[in-house]
Amino acid sequence: MKTIYLIGFMGAGKSTIASLLGKQMGLPVIELDDYIEKAEGMSIPDIFAARGETGFRDAETEHLASLPAEGYIVSTGGGVVTRQANRDIMDKGVVVFLNVSFETVTQRLQDDQQRPLWRADSSDKYKIFLERQPLYQQMAHITIAVDDQTPSEIVELVAARLG
Ligand code: S3P
Repeated sequence: MKTIYLIGFMGAGKSTIASLLGKQMGLPVIELDDYIEKAEGMSIPDIFAARGETGFRDAETEHLASLPAEGYIVSTGGGVVTRQANRDIMDKGVVVFLNVSFETVTQRLQDDQQRPLWRADSSDKYKIFLERQPLYQQMAHITIAVDDQTPSEIVELVAARLG
Protein backbone atom coordinates (compact mmCIF):
# COMPACT_ATOMS: atom_id res chain seq x y z
CA MET A 1 0.00 0.00 0.00
CA LYS A 2 1.18 3.50 -0.86
CA THR A 3 2.25 5.74 2.02
CA ILE A 4 -0.63 7.78 3.46
CA TYR A 5 0.10 11.47 4.13
CA LEU A 6 -2.09 13.36 6.58
CA ILE A 7 -2.26 17.06 5.77
CA GLY A 8 -4.12 20.01 7.28
CA PHE A 9 -3.61 23.19 9.26
CA MET A 10 -1.91 23.32 12.67
CA GLY A 11 -4.28 21.92 15.26
CA ALA A 12 -6.28 19.79 12.79
CA GLY A 13 -5.39 16.66 14.79
CA LYS A 14 -2.99 15.10 12.26
CA SER A 15 -0.75 13.48 14.90
CA THR A 16 -3.64 12.05 16.92
CA ILE A 17 -5.35 10.64 13.85
CA ALA A 18 -2.09 9.26 12.41
CA SER A 19 -1.37 7.39 15.62
CA LEU A 20 -4.89 5.89 15.86
CA LEU A 21 -5.00 5.08 12.14
CA GLY A 22 -1.60 3.41 12.37
CA LYS A 23 -2.86 1.14 15.16
CA GLN A 24 -6.07 0.33 13.32
CA MET A 25 -4.33 -0.45 10.00
CA GLY A 26 -1.24 -2.04 11.52
CA LEU A 27 1.04 0.46 9.78
CA PRO A 28 4.02 2.32 11.23
CA VAL A 29 3.59 6.06 11.75
CA ILE A 30 6.14 8.79 11.08
CA GLU A 31 5.60 12.18 12.66
CA LEU A 32 7.49 14.41 10.21
CA ASP A 33 8.13 17.21 12.72
CA ASP A 34 9.58 14.73 15.27
CA TYR A 35 11.64 13.14 12.52
CA ILE A 36 13.06 16.54 11.52
CA GLU A 37 13.85 17.42 15.15
CA LYS A 38 15.73 14.14 15.67
CA ALA A 39 17.58 14.34 12.35
CA GLU A 40 18.59 17.97 12.85
CA GLY A 41 19.23 17.63 16.59
CA MET A 42 17.15 20.77 17.25
CA SER A 43 13.56 21.61 18.18
CA ILE A 44 11.31 23.15 15.52
CA PRO A 45 11.29 26.57 17.29
CA ASP A 46 15.11 26.45 17.44
CA ILE A 47 15.35 25.61 13.73
CA PHE A 48 13.08 28.58 12.93
CA ALA A 49 15.16 30.82 15.20
CA ALA A 50 18.50 29.72 13.76
CA ARG A 51 17.65 29.29 10.08
CA GLY A 52 14.35 31.11 9.56
CA GLU A 53 11.26 29.62 7.96
CA THR A 54 13.17 28.97 4.72
CA GLY A 55 15.77 26.89 6.60
CA PHE A 56 13.00 24.91 8.23
CA ARG A 57 11.24 24.36 4.87
CA ASP A 58 14.50 23.15 3.31
CA ALA A 59 14.90 20.57 6.10
CA GLU A 60 11.23 19.60 5.79
CA THR A 61 11.57 18.93 2.05
CA GLU A 62 14.82 17.01 2.49
CA HIS A 63 13.39 14.71 5.16
CA LEU A 64 10.00 14.27 3.50
CA ALA A 65 11.83 13.13 0.36
CA SER A 66 13.80 10.57 2.37
CA LEU A 67 10.71 8.75 3.72
CA PRO A 68 9.49 5.46 2.22
CA ALA A 69 6.89 5.82 -0.52
CA GLU A 70 5.16 2.61 0.55
CA GLY A 71 3.78 1.19 3.75
CA TYR A 72 3.76 4.16 6.15
CA ILE A 73 1.44 6.74 7.60
CA VAL A 74 3.10 10.17 7.66
CA SER A 75 1.74 12.99 9.79
CA THR A 76 3.02 16.19 8.14
CA GLY A 77 3.41 19.77 9.40
CA GLY A 78 0.72 22.25 8.40
CA GLY A 79 2.98 24.13 6.00
CA VAL A 80 4.15 21.13 3.98
CA VAL A 81 1.76 21.98 1.14
CA THR A 82 3.43 25.34 0.49
CA ARG A 83 6.23 23.83 -1.61
CA GLN A 84 5.70 22.25 -5.01
CA ALA A 85 8.47 19.70 -4.34
CA ASN A 86 6.58 18.46 -1.27
CA ARG A 87 3.31 18.34 -3.17
CA ASP A 88 4.95 16.24 -5.91
CA ILE A 89 6.27 13.74 -3.33
CA MET A 90 2.95 13.39 -1.52
CA ASP A 91 0.91 13.14 -4.70
CA LYS A 92 2.58 9.76 -5.33
CA GLY A 93 0.97 8.48 -2.14
CA VAL A 94 -2.52 8.84 -0.68
CA VAL A 95 -3.20 12.33 0.70
CA VAL A 96 -5.78 12.69 3.46
CA PHE A 97 -6.82 16.27 4.28
CA LEU A 98 -8.15 16.87 7.78
CA ASN A 99 -10.25 19.97 7.19
CA VAL A 100 -10.57 22.07 10.33
CA SER A 101 -12.10 25.54 10.75
CA PHE A 102 -10.00 28.48 11.90
CA GLU A 103 -12.33 28.85 14.91
CA THR A 104 -11.58 25.31 16.08
CA VAL A 105 -7.84 25.79 15.57
CA THR A 106 -7.96 28.98 17.63
CA GLN A 107 -9.76 27.19 20.46
CA ARG A 108 -7.38 24.23 20.38
CA LEU A 109 -4.08 26.08 20.15
CA GLN A 110 -4.88 29.23 22.17
CA ASP A 111 -1.44 30.55 23.22
CA ASP A 112 0.59 27.53 22.04
CA GLN A 113 4.29 28.33 22.09
CA GLN A 114 5.63 25.28 20.23
CA ARG A 115 4.56 26.50 16.80
CA PRO A 116 6.56 29.52 15.63
CA LEU A 117 3.94 30.53 13.05
CA TRP A 118 1.18 30.46 15.69
CA ARG A 119 2.92 33.25 17.58
CA ALA A 120 1.99 35.75 14.85
CA ASP A 121 -0.89 38.24 15.08
CA SER A 122 -4.33 36.75 14.71
CA SER A 123 -4.92 38.46 11.35
CA ASP A 124 -1.61 37.07 10.00
CA LYS A 125 -2.51 33.57 11.15
CA TYR A 126 -5.89 33.82 9.47
CA LYS A 127 -4.17 35.01 6.28
CA ILE A 128 -1.91 31.91 6.32
CA PHE A 129 -4.96 29.73 6.93
CA LEU A 130 -6.80 31.22 3.95
CA GLU A 131 -3.74 30.98 1.70
CA ARG A 132 -3.30 27.30 2.48
CA GLN A 133 -6.92 26.13 2.20
CA PRO A 134 -6.85 25.85 -1.62
CA LEU A 135 -3.51 24.01 -1.48
CA TYR A 136 -4.90 21.41 0.93
CA GLN A 137 -8.03 21.06 -1.18
CA GLN A 138 -6.12 20.64 -4.44
CA MET A 139 -3.80 18.02 -2.95
CA ALA A 140 -6.38 15.94 -1.14
CA HIS A 141 -7.35 12.52 -2.41
CA ILE A 142 -9.62 12.19 0.62
CA THR A 143 -11.08 15.09 2.65
CA ILE A 144 -12.59 14.71 6.11
CA ALA A 145 -14.30 17.60 7.98
CA VAL A 146 -13.03 17.21 11.52
CA ASP A 147 -14.63 19.99 13.59
CA ASP A 148 -17.58 18.04 14.96
CA GLN A 149 -16.16 14.52 15.04
CA THR A 150 -14.27 12.55 17.66
CA PRO A 151 -10.86 11.10 16.78
CA SER A 152 -12.28 7.57 16.58
CA GLU A 153 -15.07 8.73 14.26
CA ILE A 154 -12.51 10.44 12.03
CA VAL A 155 -10.37 7.30 11.91
CA GLU A 156 -13.40 5.21 10.93
CA LEU A 157 -14.21 7.66 8.12
CA VAL A 158 -10.64 7.68 6.82
CA ALA A 159 -10.38 3.88 6.99
CA ALA A 160 -13.71 3.50 5.15
CA ARG A 161 -12.55 5.90 2.41
CA LEU A 162 -9.24 4.08 2.07
CA GLY A 163 -11.20 0.89 1.44
C1 S3P B 1 3.92 24.55 10.68
C2 S3P B 1 3.25 23.58 11.39
C3 S3P B 1 3.89 22.77 12.42
C4 S3P B 1 5.40 22.68 12.19
C5 S3P B 1 5.98 24.04 12.04
C6 S3P B 1 5.37 24.82 10.87
C7 S3P B 1 3.18 25.33 9.68
O1 S3P B 1 3.34 21.46 12.43
O2 S3P B 1 5.68 21.91 11.05
O3 S3P B 1 5.78 24.74 13.25
O4 S3P B 1 3.82 26.01 8.84
O5 S3P B 1 1.92 25.28 9.68
P1 S3P B 1 1.82 21.12 12.94
O6 S3P B 1 0.90 21.33 11.77
O7 S3P B 1 1.89 19.70 13.35
O8 S3P B 1 1.51 22.05 14.05
